[in-house]
Amino acid sequence: MNFSEAVQKTRSFLQELEAPFVGRHEEALVIVLALLSGEHAVLVGEPGTAKSAMVRRAASLLKARFFKYLLTRYTEPSELFGPIDIRALQAGVYARVTRGKLSEAEIAFLDEIFNASSAVLNSLLSIMMERIVYDGYTEIRTPLWSLFGSSNRVPDEPELEALYDRFLLRAYVQPLDAEYWDKLLEATWKLETGEVGEVAPVLTMKELEELHKHVMSVNVSNVRPQLIKMLLTLEERGLHVSDRRKGKILKVIAAHALLNNRKVATEDDLVVLKYTVPKALEDFEKIGVILSEELKTKERVLRELHEIRANVKVTASRVQSVPPYDPRLAEFYKSLSTTKNKVLNYVKDFDEDEEIRKLTDEIISEIDDLMDRIKAKLYI
Ligand SMILES: Nc1ncnc2c1ncn2[C@@H]1O[C@H](COP(=O)(O)OP(=O)(O)OP(=O)(O)O)[C@@H](O)[C@H]1O
Ligand SMILES: [Mg+2]
Repeated sequence: MNFSEAVQKTRSFLQELEAPFVGRHEEALVIVLALLSGEHAVLVGEPGTAKSAMVRRAASLLKARFFKYLLTRYTEPSELFGPIDIRALQAGVYARVTRGKLSEAEIAFLDEIFNASSAVLNSLLSIMMERIVYDGYTEIRTPLWSLFGSSNRVPDEPELEALYDRFLLRAYVQPLDAEYWDKLLEATWKLETGEVGEVAPVLTMKELEELHKHVMSVNVSNVRPQLIKMLLTLEERGLHVSDRRKGKILKVIAAHALLNNRKVATEDDLVVLKYTVPKALEDFEKIGVILSEELKTKERVLRELHEIRANVKVTASRVQSVPPYDPRLAEFYKSLSTTKNKVLNYVKDFDEDEEIRKLTDEIISEIDDLMDRIKAKLYI
């Protein structure tokens, strides 16, 4: 699988994942970023916002060994890691029957994750961090790739802090705005009537590992200074990131770059801070505001390009209205030439992005046309 096949594969997985849901693009993105970077993600939000449905769909689209469980405060380690093997115990060996349990899963989903009791918690911490289960006397290496959690709240108990910290990716799933309700009813109807149907896997674990290799080959060194600068800005504005998370964010940046067909990460990829920095619920909104102020993101570049285009249109009508030889024509010409250079410089980091490239090409050709028209009017 080459890089562009990897990009295509990732994009179609993302599209398939979000297809039956309304207004859940960012949540789907968070799930995909977690899979690409081999990290864990937690979805936090009120009941009925499709948290479980999204993770279940991601699991069906992936051909992987999947384990899911709803945690309550009374969940015992044996429910997740398997019961004690009685026969082995009679022979003097302490072991668990792990078949079909979390210890054998590549992808796991733990619903109501913050209900974990302290016995379960300790095992979760080590399986998430080291992919190891300590089984009394032995250590079992597990194939766990990503663990997804969901909850109706973010935890504030200190004993859950370490667990929460291990979810590099976090999404705050909010109920849909009224403008989406009509589509929601339609989508739910389709899901309920079975019109959406069973999904067939579109990705194997082996392919996912290949995607991950491509992610890890993305060049992130040029965004490191910008990342540090942003982390400093965020720290100043009260958004603290643990040291463990700081370094790991680079992986998510690389995953975002791959999804956007970039072998070299750019400032645009720092948008993943939105899904990796927030801790308390209010942080999710706060960071959105800070990032839109501070970052040169794709959205922002598109916005500015549209503004420039509108200005070129204004210039075009002014060119139209002045008589031939008018000295203002030379001024228009000069300013268009400056604009052209500015546009080309501005989009330099985004030359792999089809949408931006297309818009840029259109604007540049509009500018060139207009400059030709000015030249004709000046008879040179
Ligand atoms: N944005 C949406 N688009 C399409 N369907 C949706 C959406 N939100 C909710 N639904 C419908 O609502 C159902 C309930 O979602 P789900 O059980 O996944 O919610 P949840 O967030 O996991 O809730 P809980 O916190 O109670 O576990 C979904 O299976 C789906 O049919
Ligand atoms: Mg649920």
